[in-house]
Amino acid sequence: EQIEKGGYEHFMLKEIFEQPKSIHDTMRGRLIVNEGVIKMAGIWDHIEKFKNANRIIIIACGTSWHAGLIGEYLIEEFARIPVEVEYASEFRYRNPIITDKDVVIAISQSGETADTMAALKLAKERGAFIYGICNVVDSSIARITDAGSYTHAGPEIGVASTKAFTAQLTILSLIALKLGKHNGNLGNAEFMSLISELDAIPKKIEEVLEATHELTQHIAKDFIQATNFLYLGRGYNYPAALEGALKLKEISYIHAEGYPAAEMKHGPIALIDENMPIVIIAPKKGHYDKIVSNVQEIKARKGKVVAVVNKGDKQVSEMADYVIEIPETSECFSPIVASVPLQLLAYYIAVYRGANVDQPRNLAKSVTVE
Ligand code: G6P
Repeated sequence: EQIEKGGYEHFMLKEIFEQPKSIHDTMRGRLIVNEGVIKMAGIWDHIEKFKNANRIIIIACGTSWHAGLIGEYLIEEFARIPVEVEYASEFRYRNPIITDKDVVIAISQSGETADTMAALKLAKERGAFIYGICNVVDSSIARITDAGSYTHAGPEIGVASTKAFTAQLTILSLIALKLGKHNGNLGNAEFMSLISELDAIPKKIEEVLEATHELTQHIAKDFIQATNFLYLGRGYNYPAALEGALKLKEISYIHAEGYPAAEMKHGPIALIDENMPIVIIAPKKGHYDKIVSNVQEIKARKGKVVAVVNKGDKQVSEMADYVIEIPETSECFSPIVASVPLQLLAYYIAVYRGANVDQPRNLAKSVTVE
């Protein structure tokens, strides 16, 4: 096992550090920047299904569901196809309206999650075209779907999903950009600039790992005793906040909630005092001014702010108690970059609390029963 961990203390840390490579592997052979194309056979072979879809329904559980939420933003923004995202467990039991004009996308790292499998079977029975985004090759979900794209992130052993999540975001980005280009919603210049941004993501993640590995350890030390955490983000980074909170609760057993930053005033703000740590994702592109006022509201109540900002940021950084800098990218890809320091932060808080990071209590890597 020590050899499999490749010198890292845990699989989770190894998998966090693998992300420049795993994202690169997800794009390999698909994103051909100098030719200005995205090649995805699974999409291309069924392009009419996607083009004529009334809507796309994304079903998933856990971390994969968070990736689905970001997928909704991506596909609606670039392909202008209506998207709904559902928990597989809810979808399967609520007699949903599904027609043969719907495309149902299941996202699953393992490809074995019982609820996701059952939801897909239901969608298939009702005539939808079903598409899989799985990491494990030849898994049950990959086999029952009409078509799909593998994430190619490599085996993920740590129960808390890290590299599979960023690979799912990469696939969803590729799908959204490909569909948008094909149906004419995305002009050539914008498409070209987005694909070169996407191509640069692995390099940016390398920078983030380098720049934040020690920093997140220092920050983590200050929060070992925390009992609650709030994670906030807006737009594309709202689901990234949900995922940041999930990582922390899964492995450190600290209660954490993710929220869209603007919703803070409808509840969570009541919890804020000097004992409440708040992780806020605040990249320059993406409602930055609104986030600035959210941080002001938090500081007025003495909350402890850990801010994830772009390099050179001033306004949020001046108010924040801890600043984590990440490189700038297009807003739509910022969750991929912003997720990495949040994974590290959760990891180190859990390690310092003595938790079993790779196998947290009560959790399973793949939930194959209800
Ligand atoms: C379990 C795992 C999570 C995962 C979820 C969905 O809860 O612990 O990490 O996100 O299942 O799994 P899937 O394999 O379908 O993505």
